[in-house]
Amino acid sequence: MASRRLLVTGSGGLIGSEVVEGFAAEGWEVHGLENNQRADFFGPQGDTRWNVDRLRREQPRYQHHSIDIRNRPGVMDLFREVVPHAVVHTAAQPSHDLAASRPFGLPTCCLRGGCLTGPNHTGVELHGFLSYLIRCNLEGRTYRIFGYKGKQVRDNIHSRDVVQFMLRFVASPRVAEVYNLGGGRANSVSILEAFDLIAAISGKPMQSEYVDQPRQGDHQCYLSDLTKMKAHYSGWTITKDIPTTFQEIYQSWRKRAPDRAG
Ligand SMILES: NC(=O)c1ccc[n+]([C@@H]2O[C@H](COP(=O)([O-])OP(=O)(O)OC[C@H]3O[C@@H](n4cnc5c(N)ncnc54)[C@H](O)[C@@H]3O)[C@@H](O)[C@H]2O)c1
Repeated sequence: MASRRLLVTGSGGLIGSEVVEGFAAEGWEVHGLENNQRADFFGPQGDTRWNVDRLRREQPRYQHHSIDIRNRPGVMDLFREVVPHAVVHTAAQPSHDLAASRPFGLPTCCLRGGCLTGPNHTGVELHGFLSYLIRCNLEGRTYRIFGYKGKQVRDNIHSRDVVQFMLRFVASPRVAEVYNLGGGRANSVSILEAFDLIAAISGKPMQSEYVDQPRQGDHQCYLSDLTKMKAHYSGWTITKDIPTTFQEIYQSWRKRAPDRAG
């Protein structure tokens, strides 16, 4: 039976070279991608050529490919040539300190979401509180309040505004940014305030019961500071306020279950 082919990236490194040996011992044909980048990262003492030479000497089933993994056409050609059954990816810059002093410069951002909401949410008790709360009102279900007397506050951002930010970031990306993503103070609401708002929209009173025990780790008040986001992307702002968002979620639930709408 033809042997299976493995492609391991970073085959001159600690884990990559062990992968070569381990898979070869199980009968795999092993292809290694490695460009001795560790010597570039850490100087001559990080040179991994000795390890690659050792593999070549000791492992007849090992085939070496000196390619930089960032060389996309080169990697694509290698995939076409080897057609691996499995890939183990260990090529990396592994030092925390070097990562801080020599970042790879990729345009990325991390969005620290607060309450993200909108008409397309499928809210349930354990996640998507506004969507679920509005559904409860519409269907006459009892909404359970967990602690804080129902005065816990969340800021809420409509999913449309989330995507408007993403569009702006992709059009003009920055490197390794982190942003708070939420509705901000102006788009905040407590559970009791949310009851009043939805009751005014639907004309139905909210059915609720109180559980005198907050959810574990639950915040009493969460408001996102959007200053940085707005400073970096001055064209972006919250466009969907709380009443609009409530209306949209309410209408969405009505469309999904028209027979239960009042
Ligand atoms: N060793 C640890 O203590 C440790 C701890 C946690 C996580 N890790 C992770 O495990 C993985 C393997 O770590 P390791 O200890 O074997 O690291 P290593 O430095 O020994 O091996 C990585 C290999 O990848 C090669 N490489 C780097 N950039 C390359 C590129 N652009 N093209 C081709 N080859 C390239 C390097 O030359 C090196 O031989 C890494 O993702 C690392 O972050 C390691």
